[in-house]
Amino acid sequence: MDVDIGNALASVASPGISREGLERLDERVATAHERIEAGRANDEHGYAALNLPERTDPDAIRAAVEPVADVDALVTIGIGGSALGAATITDALADAGDGTEAVYLDNIDPAWITRRLEALPLESTAINVVSRSGTTAETLANFLVVREAFEDAGVDWTERTVVTTGESGPLRSLANRHDLAAVSVPDGVPGRFSALSAVGLVAAAVCGHDLEAILEGAAAEADTLTGSLFECPAYAYGATAYALDARGASMNAMVPYAESLETYAEWFAQLWAESLGKDDLGQTPVRALGVTDQHSQLQLYRAGPRDKLVTFVTPRKTADRDIPGTDVDELAYLGDATLGELLEAEFEATEASLAAAGRPNVRVELESVDAFELGGLLYGMEAACVLAGELYEVSTFTQPAVEWAKNATRGLLGGGEFEEAEAVAEKTTLR
Ligand code: PA5
Repeated sequence: MDVDIGNALASVASPGISREGLERLDERVATAHERIEAGRANDEHGYAALNLPERTDPDAIRAAVEPVADVDALVTIGIGGSALGAATITDALADAGDGTEAVYLDNIDPAWITRRLEALPLESTAINVVSRSGTTAETLANFLVVREAFEDAGVDWTERTVVTTGESGPLRSLANRHDLAAVSVPDGVPGRFSALSAVGLVAAAVCGHDLEAILEGAAAEADTLTGSLFECPAYAYGATAYALDARGASMNAMVPYAESLETYAEWFAQLWAESLGKDDLGQTPVRALGVTDQHSQLQLYRAGPRDKLVTFVTPRKTADRDIPGTDVDELAYLGDATLGELLEAEFEATEASLAAAGRPNVRVELESVDAFELGGLLYGMEAACVLAGELYEVSTFTQPAVEWAKNATRGLLGGGEFEEAEAVAEKTTLR
């Protein structure tokens, strides 16, 4: 990925960062890079995720999914980091796959689940259940519901379920008990950093995507990690976002200009929020989509409070389609253009409109939305996030607030003794 931070400089934007400010920050980037490299070298928790391009074995993933390779649909059951990486990949690359429909069940809204299950051709659907801990209530509950739907339809779910989980835990026990195909989540890789492991790639393999190209793109991005933000696109992004937050841009609107990258914005939001939102620090990610949100959120981005960084992600090349001409003179300009040209013009105009109003924005450019570039984007944003975590001095790879709510939920339903559940009960009594 290429990163252009020109519109985030103090000479053109407010808040913005000066060249001198970037140079001072670069000294901290060098120190942070040393820490990151040491973490990678020792496969430390979290930092190990940045080694996935060279550690993940695409052949092993393909072998694990071989029994379900011919299905028409794959329902992935997982939540947060156990779903968003996979969904980002299969959504972004949908046009390049083998036609297998990728369906994701993360929410437990009963009406929504029922509707989705009714729409699935169960006799030609496989199940991909993903949970690193193997204990997440939403994922296990949805798996039990889906399993029952298969049984009710007279379809043997054990033959067509792939489990991705840790070496122990309830989901691993269930997989062992029913002799299900199982893949392990690699050690030291937190959920939101696991897109480039089996967690994100099992669904991609079933849908016929080029796993090697995804990992090669990620490896190429890994090769750009050096101790200077002026030489490394990922660090340029992480450092700029951090510096702008420190200067008042407490929000980061992620705006891909490709419909296929809409889920990527959701993945980014989790990565940024769950990793950096600690100790009263962190930048709030907002999900938007070009051009759709030009007609809703752009007004606020250009003229609202000066508390935002807008991050554009745009492919240089896209598929194209002519816009048919009409005999209405006022519409002649459309007939002379293509949808791709219109999209590009919309992007250029939006970027320029923010720049003209002195609103900081960063352009992340991809050659196109393909497997190689997507691997680079996912890796680059993970590295940017790890760098930002070092600059904020937060514990990037933990998620105590998320764990708090998980424990409280399990405790409330009688799934164990958890002090978090007692805190909920106390609050309810006080009301
Ligand atoms: O990034 C994280 O750690 C979380 O978002 C987890 O991925 C999410 O809570 C799901 O956890 P698990 O994979 O244990 O089911």
